[in-house]
Amino acid sequence: MFKLLKKYWIFVLLAPLFMIGEVAMDLVQPKMMQVIVDDGVLGLNNGGAGNMELVISMGLKMIFVVILGGMSGVLSGVFANMFSQNWANAIRKACFRRVMEFSFEQTDKFSTGSLVTRITNDVTQLQNLATQSVRGFVRTTMLFFGGIFCVWTLDLRFGEVLFCTLPVVIIGVLFFISKANPFFDTLQRKLDNVNNVVQENVAGARVVKAYVKEDFEINRFGNANDELVNTQLRVLRLFAFMTPLANIILNMALVVIIKIGAIEVQAGNATPGAIMAAVTYLSRIMHSVIMLAMIFQTVSRGTASGKRLNEILREAPVIKDGSSAVKSDVKGRIEFRNVSFAYPGGNGELVLDNINMTIEPGETFGILGATGSGKSTLINLIPRFYDATEGSVLVDNIDVRDYALNELRNKIAVALQKSELFNTTIGENIMWGKENASADEIMAAAEDAQAMEFIADKSEGLDTAVAEKGMSLSGGQKQRVAIARALLKNAEILIFDDSTSALDLKTEAKLYKVLNTKYDSTTKIIIAQRIASVKGADRIAVIDNGSIVDCGSHEKLMESCEIYRDIYESQLKGGGDAQ
Ligand SMILES: Nc1ncnc2c1ncn2[C@@H]1O[C@H](COP(=O)(O)OP(=O)(O)O)[C@@H](O)[C@H]1O
Ligand SMILES: [Mg+2]
Repeated sequence: MFKLLKKYWIFVLLAPLFMIGEVAMDLVQPKMMQVIVDDGVLGLNNGGAGNMELVISMGLKMIFVVILGGMSGVLSGVFANMFSQNWANAIRKACFRRVMEFSFEQTDKFSTGSLVTRITNDVTQLQNLATQSVRGFVRTTMLFFGGIFCVWTLDLRFGEVLFCTLPVVIIGVLFFISKANPFFDTLQRKLDNVNNVVQENVAGARVVKAYVKEDFEINRFGNANDELVNTQLRVLRLFAFMTPLANIILNMALVVIIKIGAIEVQAGNATPGAIMAAVTYLSRIMHSVIMLAMIFQTVSRGTASGKRLNEILREAPVIKDGSSAVKSDVKGRIEFRNVSFAYPGGNGELVLDNINMTIEPGETFGILGATGSGKSTLINLIPRFYDATEGSVLVDNIDVRDYALNELRNKIAVALQKSELFNTTIGENIMWGKENASADEIMAAAEDAQAMEFIADKSEGLDTAVAEKGMSLSGGQKQRVAIARALLKNAEILIFDDSTSALDLKTEAKLYKVLNTKYDSTTKIIIAQRIASVKGADRIAVIDNGSIVDCGSHEKLMESCEIYRDIYESQLKGGGDAQ
């Protein structure tokens, strides 16, 4: 974060500098006032004869000082905001960029809600801290020490009063701050919870409604929110005690000073002007102590947030680019060599157990298996969404870990099990597969994916808007848009992760026919639960519990693989279309 600060160092310097100007003007004023009272009005040094000219000239000087101070204050504010806004902006972008680089493993680790809180609220807290450090902090510390110094020069006995009261106040303030400090981290975590509940429920609104869980979820949100407010209130309660307490002590000091001042004036040791100046200084000092406590609150909260942001920024990418520049003449060959895999952060249980298989260029390779058998996990290793725990995955005879990530992922087009669509038009959703694709290319891909038939029915065609997460499309329509996107990418390897499950058999058959002709040289991996989806594949691997139990053509598997036959027969009974 401090690296990001470098660009704005000039503002970091200018803001406090002008603030010093403002405070200096603030500190000069009471002294000028003293001259006006003592010499101008009372004429103490002139045998009691006042001096109107002195009053006017000093008064004009004071106006000038006020204007100068005000202008310094404005400039300081402008520079402080230039710094804090720009810095916060840079941090927000850096965090987002880092989150985009996160592997699945890392996004799993931070919750979505927490990432949202960090990039929004935590950055704001840090921004407040930044403004306060170059402005408020400078102002109050300078008023505090400058004020004390000025009082000290006025009369020693006032100094003693301050010397007795201030330490008490400062110790009190420090006590409250140390009490409040641990709450700030908790506060942000409670905010994470609130965001998590909101995020889950907005995303899952349909499920919540379908299961009539609104009350349950409203309750859950209520609890998360109450906890947040309770923590907030505990902090506020602490500070609610602090300010009046400091006020009482300091006001008592004020009374003592006025009393001493009266005695001193009567004894002829001090002038009324000096007493007036002292009282003004003292209220400035008082004000600065209370302000300082507020600033410490911002600082504590900002520091807690800064730590949370650093957790994102310090998170080194788990999946990194390979170190060697690689070249291969083969196109579309995949090999799994003794691959085992357990999810990071899981219980260490192997989800894939010693997988060995080779998929040749241009081959259509089916993967069949029950839910949870490890099919998605298996193909996630090819584009390095996760890295194999043991063994190696090779694409075009080169270990996937040796590729630059972009290069590897450009070789592969995946239509994921859950088709993620974005809140834009159908055409642009497809265009995600290839930047600057022409309208003809998009049409062709949609045509191949058998999506054109439903797109053509829409009055706006490819320009039809898709609601968030594709809510406005049916399951099968979403899948076809996702397939069109994958086809448009025109990669060497095409992976369909259960992405034809919502298509009717006739549409699915048409799609596979196109794949086998037009995408003949592309290596195709098709994950399915229906035998009908993979029956035409060159080879089918049957996965059970993380292991390949058999692999071969439909005919071969019908003969040799009992699990395959069982699945076949159960689906036949269900009309050939059963899950
Ligand atoms: N992100 C994850 N973290 C931990 N475990 C996971 C994760 N994703 C899947 N699993 C587990 O891995 C196993 C295989 O899942 P998956 O590969 O998705 O199965 P399939 O695609 O065959 O239905 C399941 O037991 C599942 O619970
Ligand atoms: Mg799956």
